[in-house]
Amino acid sequence: MNDFSFGLATDIRFGKDAVASIGEIALEYGAKKVLLAADKGIRGTGLPTSIRGYLAAAGIACVDFDKIVPNPRISDCEEGARLGLEEQINLVIAVGGGSSIDTSKAIAGMIGHQTSDFRRIQFPNAYTCDPCPLIAVPTTAGTGSEVTTCGVITNAQTHEKVYCYDIKCAPTVALCDPAVLMGLPSAIAAATGIDALTHAIEGYVCTCTNPVTEAFGLYAVKKISQHFRKYIYDRDIESCSEIMVGSLLAGLSFGYSDTAAVHALAETIGGRYDTPHGVANAIFLADVCEYNIPANLPKYVDIARAMGVTGQGLTDRELAQAGVDEIRRLVADVRIPRLNELPGIDPEDFEELAEKCVTHVSNPDNPIVLTKEEFLCFLNKAYNA
Ligand SMILES: NC(=O)c1ccc[n+]([C@@H]2O[C@H](COP(=O)([O-])OP(=O)(O)OC[C@H]3O[C@@H](n4cnc5c(N)ncnc54)[C@H](O)[C@@H]3O)[C@@H](O)[C@H]2O)c1
Ligand SMILES: [Fe+2]
Repeated sequence: MNDFSFGLATDIRFGKDAVASIGEIALEYGAKKVLLAADKGIRGTGLPTSIRGYLAAAGIACVDFDKIVPNPRISDCEEGARLGLEEQINLVIAVGGGSSIDTSKAIAGMIGHQTSDFRRIQFPNAYTCDPCPLIAVPTTAGTGSEVTTCGVITNAQTHEKVYCYDIKCAPTVALCDPAVLMGLPSAIAAATGIDALTHAIEGYVCTCTNPVTEAFGLYAVKKISQHFRKYIYDRDIESCSEIMVGSLLAGLSFGYSDTAAVHALAETIGGRYDTPHGVANAIFLADVCEYNIPANLPKYVDIARAMGVTGQGLTDRELAQAGVDEIRRLVADVRIPRLNELPGIDPEDFEELAEKCVTHVSNPDNPIVLTKEEFLCFLNKAYNA
């Protein structure tokens, strides 16, 4: 077992219609003027308008920032930091999926360091100042960014994903309201949900776990896999609650340990082609799990059992494989696009992408550290599937 310490950086508030209490929570954290960061897709849902109303009722002024795109860009984060500094805001509220929350983490980090230069907080630079307080209101059940210690930002020049990463980067408050998932379009729910399942699995099997992150990860596998189809096809408040909790627990798992090779592939693909993050994970999840089984058979047996696979009379190896087969069925059932159906994918790029995967921060934490040839096999297999 690895030695460990564990301290949770984020105050978690979970409940149906919890968003209505955002004014009081913001006051608890001393808010006078907030930056409300939400992308244009979220603004279409009306949620930011409601939040502005709750803030106004609590006597809190509000400045809007909507220059956020899926797979957010450094330049947009820097623009948000400039606006926050000019307006002298003292709290950031992120409303949205991982893209809005990660942008807000970068903005809050830069404001705390009195700069609008992202390089000041870009990994591997540690934070030397506290960020501006941040309330994250997740509207996807996917990234777990509402509790993780990193923000994932795309460098538009190099087409690579880079990070702000520090325990201080974690949001101050995660305000999780499952009701906001009720209207999430099914394709986004499916892709983001598989991202959450990937976090749960990789948070459990990666090589830098501790008993706390393992417990979060395995329970998250159970919650997500057992409620996922109902969430996609029926979308009642119960299934939204289960998947939102699953995503939160998965975030606590990988966010305090790491992801592994699925994310090495997904972030490399996402940086190059702007692929939705959950779609990129879904493409590789079953294949990478299958390949990893021999490196940690007991954990893949645990995952199969957590997914509800029973398999009377099966050997451990067969049970672990049955778990992978169930992952493959789950991904197929919710109709995630294949790699060769995505725009812009060019197999000529695969050699270079495989090289980038090898040096990805999470490759050393995969149960087997993968080589360029192995990553190339995953890319070609997925492209020809
Ligand atoms: N920081 C972390 O720990 C972490 C972990 C995993 C992924 N990420 C990053 O998060 C980003 C992906 O985030 P995501 O998968 O949540 O998607 P996203 O934030 O990019 O959102 C995808 C789309 O869904 C829309 N949307 C979100 N919620 C909605 C709702 N309730 N109703 C209607 N539309 C809604 C958005 O407007 C957007 O168009 C990527 O950049 C990825 O690299 C970060
Ligand atoms: Fe992810």
